[in-house]
Amino acid sequence: MTVLDLAPLTPMHETVRRPLYTETTTSQALYLPIAPPTLGTAGAVIGRELYSGKAFIYCPFSAFGDGLPGGNCIVMGDTGRGKSALTKTYCARQIRLGRQVVILDTKEQTEREEGEWSALGRALTGNPPVKFAPGDAGSSCVNPMDPAITGKRQIELVRTIVELGLGRALDEFAGSALRIAIRRAHQRAADEDRQAVLADVASSLRAPHEADAAAKQRSPHELLADGLEASYVLDRLCGSDQDTTGDLIGMLDGPTSLSIDLDADMVTFDLTRVPSGGVAMTILVAVIAVFLEEVWLRAKCECGSEPGQHERVTVDASSGAWELGANPEAGCRRYTQRKRILVAEEAWHILGTPQLARLLEKFLKFARGFGLACIFIVHHLSDIDDSAETKAALTMADTIVVYSMKKAEAEDTAKRLGLPAWTAEHIMRLRRGVALWKVGDVIYPSVQHLLTEAEQHLCFSSGSMSDLSNEDPQND
Ligand SMILES: Nc1ncnc2c1ncn2[C@@H]1O[C@H](COP(=O)(O)OP(=O)(O)OP(=O)(O)O)[C@@H](O)[C@H]1O
Ligand SMILES: [Mg+2]
Repeated sequence: MTVLDLAPLTPMHETVRRPLYTETTTSQALYLPIAPPTLGTAGAVIGRELYSGKAFIYCPFSAFGDGLPGGNCIVMGDTGRGKSALTKTYCARQIRLGRQVVILDTKEQTEREEGEWSALGRALTGNPPVKFAPGDAGSSCVNPMDPAITGKRQIELVRTIVELGLGRALDEFAGSALRIAIRRAHQRAADEDRQAVLADVASSLRAPHEADAAAKQRSPHELLADGLEASYVLDRLCGSDQDTTGDLIGMLDGPTSLSIDLDADMVTFDLTRVPSGGVAMTILVAVIAVFLEEVWLRAKCECGSEPGQHERVTVDASSGAWELGANPEAGCRRYTQRKRILVAEEAWHILGTPQLARLLEKFLKFARGFGLACIFIVHHLSDIDDSAETKAALTMADTIVVYSMKKAEAEDTAKRLGLPAWTAEHIMRLRRGVALWKVGDVIYPSVQHLLTEAEQHLCFSSGSMSDLSNEDPQND
């Protein structure tokens, strides 16, 4: 019995090698750095995936339909890991693609005595930041009573301001007195040919009209009692000529500053002088959010014209369905909604305050319709409470970027975001500039953010320049 049949090895049975046909995809699998970026090639370059070496390009506006339901994003991680640097370069790169960006900047760059986004804003637009500083004559002002904010929205906003100042909800009687006072304030201002301000609401609350009281089956005294507390709150917040201690003095109690150019590519609201975590910051963010929604987020084509200036093109004669087409005057061939990005630094102020989280929830929910992508930057989820509003806001984040964190926070983050258990340890070990990205349902464990030399000084947040020249995030 032959144990080994050598016959097949005789020259007669020599194996014939078939030629190897390779395709681009095969060679890409063998050598990943030449493979196309996973999320497509359109959008802002972020850097590279460390495991594969593939380029990492991200754009919520282009990735739509490719597994990304919306453009909202939360960036989190320990201090100094690269959250702001990533967001700054990302925004700058998106602006090159025609997007508009608004930033709520809350972190001061001490040596420059202004917000850390101001330098980037100046470099990109030439405009200084819109600076808010309570009690400072040079402070910018956003008027909650601005006629640009429509009726119902304005009533809700002024009510939110009073409730935040008061620390509790207004009852029906006070709410009704406030509505009446807002209407009267507008009438009074129109008679004097000027814009109504919050001080007009406070004085209308203190001087109710007999006709308004009668319409509500109340006496003028009762109507006065209903709204008196709200008027005190407005006085306290906005101050007066005699009292200059108001938390919001100079920031909400006058007409909206003309210097706010919401058509600029990038608008930086510098909130670094507003005490963080206090009522003033909360109220200011609430007002800015509504102002942005009413004025900045108005539908606009990328060519700069309004939808009404574009032709209506019937796409289905039987149903009469139509879409917006060309605007020959502007030389624009088709209406394309302008895309916007809203960045909130230290966003735990927002997510941790139920009234603001509720307000932002609306932003997040309808972001897609607005052509908007919101980016919230936080340290850890433990900064944020577990309220229903916060949870809702978190579930609306379609992309989550996690930089390095300490053990307890990494474990908490993985648990609250429903990430696999291995990610907790992985997050703890991430180097500066490298983050775990979760885009839709897909996890990219190590994405390295690459900064060009020109961007480095604009993203530098740590003070001394010598620090920067010695820094190499790869060796961190
Ligand atoms: N990918 C990177 N490549 C090179 N340098 C980086 C990178 N990411 C961040 N840095 C540098 O690290 C420093 C800290 O980064 P950054 O300000 O983005 O941290 P942060 O996470 O926002 O911190 P904080 O929570 O304190 O705001 C900056 O000076 C920045 O220039
Ligand atoms: Mg930062």
